[in-house]
Amino acid sequence: MSTHSPLFLRHATQLVTLAGSSKAPLTGNAMEDLKIIEDGSVWIEDGRIQAVGTDAELLTQYQDRLAEAKEIDATGRLVTPGLVDPHTHLVHAGSRENEFEKRLQGATYMEIMAAGGGIHSTTRATKEADHEQLLTESRRRLDAFLLQGVTTVEAKSGYGLEWEHEKKQLEVAQELNRTHVIDIVSTFMGAHAVPSKYRDRPDDFVDLVVNEMIPKVARLGLAEFNDVFCERGVFTPEQSRRILEVGKKHGLAPKIHADEIEPYAGAELAAEVGAVSADHLLRASKEGIRAMAEAGTVAVLLPGTAFFLMADSADARAMIDAGVAVALSTDCNPGSSPTVSLPLIMNLGCLKMGMTPAEALTATTINAAHAIRRGHEVGSLEKGKKADLVLYDVSDYRSLQYAYGVNHARTVIKTGQVVVR
Ligand code: NIG
Ligand code: FE
Repeated sequence: MSTHSPLFLRHATQLVTLAGSSKAPLTGNAMEDLKIIEDGSVWIEDGRIQAVGTDAELLTQYQDRLAEAKEIDATGRLVTPGLVDPHTHLVHAGSRENEFEKRLQGATYMEIMAAGGGIHSTTRATKEADHEQLLTESRRRLDAFLLQGVTTVEAKSGYGLEWEHEKKQLEVAQELNRTHVIDIVSTFMGAHAVPSKYRDRPDDFVDLVVNEMIPKVARLGLAEFNDVFCERGVFTPEQSRRILEVGKKHGLAPKIHADEIEPYAGAELAAEVGAVSADHLLRASKEGIRAMAEAGTVAVLLPGTAFFLMADSADARAMIDAGVAVALSTDCNPGSSPTVSLPLIMNLGCLKMGMTPAEALTATTINAAHAIRRGHEVGSLEKGKKADLVLYDVSDYRSLQYAYGVNHARTVIKTGQVVVR
C-alpha cells in the first residue's frame, strides 16, 4: 500500500527525459539528444517514476486510476530530471571574502595557499566549528541548491586534515543525507592539502592518510569515494596514485582533482587508476583526454572555478569531440567557487567551454549522476527511477542556459514529494 496518493504530472510543454542513459554516461553526439517528449506526462507512485509518455499515452494507461491521483498541471512548462551536482565541498565553515579581494589586487590562488591561507584558512575555521555549526551552515547551502532544482549533491571532506575533523565533516554529510530532502553522496578527501606541520615531510602525511584515515573511513562506512588534490605544490602524481590505489583496496572508488592550475598528468593518472571521474582538467593534455575517453572516466568540469579564479576554462568541446563523457558541477566551496547555481554553471559551460545548451543539460543530469555512480537511480526520467523532477517557469530547455543569473525553477519534486512549490 502506498502511503501517498500517486502524482500525475501532465502536459509538460517539453519533458526532457534523457531516456536510455541509465547504464552508461552519454558521449559524443548522444550528449545532444535529450529525448524530449512534447505534451509529456509522468505517473509517480511510491517515490518512483512508474510511467513516462505523452499525455494521451498515460491517460489511456491510467484511465481507471485518475480519481486517486493528485494532478500537477505542467502546461507551458519545461520539466527536467532533478539536477545533480557531482562535486562540492559542501561541508565547511566560514568564507574568504578577504582572499577574493586579495586576488582582485593580483595575488594568485596558489600564493595565498602557500602563505597559509586558502584551503588552510577554511581548515582552521572548520576545525573550530562544532558538528551543530557545520550542520547549520551546510544545511543553508543545501536549501539554496534545492531552490535551484538540485536534488542530488556529492560532498567532500578535506577541511579537517586530521582524523577527528575529517570524521566530523563526513558525519555532518551523513546526517544531512538523513535529514535533508537532497540526497548526498560522500567523498573522503583527506588529501586536500598538506597541513603546515607536515610541510617539510609531506610523505608522512600521505602515510597518515593511507595507513590510518582511509581504513577508518572505509570501516565506518563514512564515504563511497576517495579524492585527492593532485597539483604541483600539493600532492604529486606519485603520492596521488598511492592514495587512490590504497582507497581502492578499501573499497573507496577513486576521484581526482586533476590539472587544475598546471598540466601535471592528472588526467593520465585518472585513466590509469580507473577513476570514476577526473575533475577540473583546465590544463589537461591531449594524451590525458584520450586516455580518459578510453578508460571511460567522466570529466567533471567546473567552469565557475575558472571564472572565479580568472583562468582559462577547460576545453569541454575538445573533450566531447574526443569521446569523453562530460559532466558539470559548481565545485561549491569558499575559495575557488562560492556558488550553488548549477544553471549558472550551464551558462558558463556554453559561453566559456563551447558546449551546446543540450550538452550542458546532459552534463548536469545523467552524466553528473554517472560521475557519482548514481546513473541507475537519478539523472533521467524513466520507469523505475527515483521521482526527482523540476518544473520551470520557462517552456524551452535553452532558456536555462540563456537567461542567466535567473532562477527559473518553480516546483521541485524529490522522491515523489513536492518539496518546493
Ligand atoms: O576544487 N582545488 C582544490 N580544492 C577546491 C578549492 C578549495 C578551497 O579553495 O577551499 C577546488 O577548487
Ligand atoms: Fe573541488
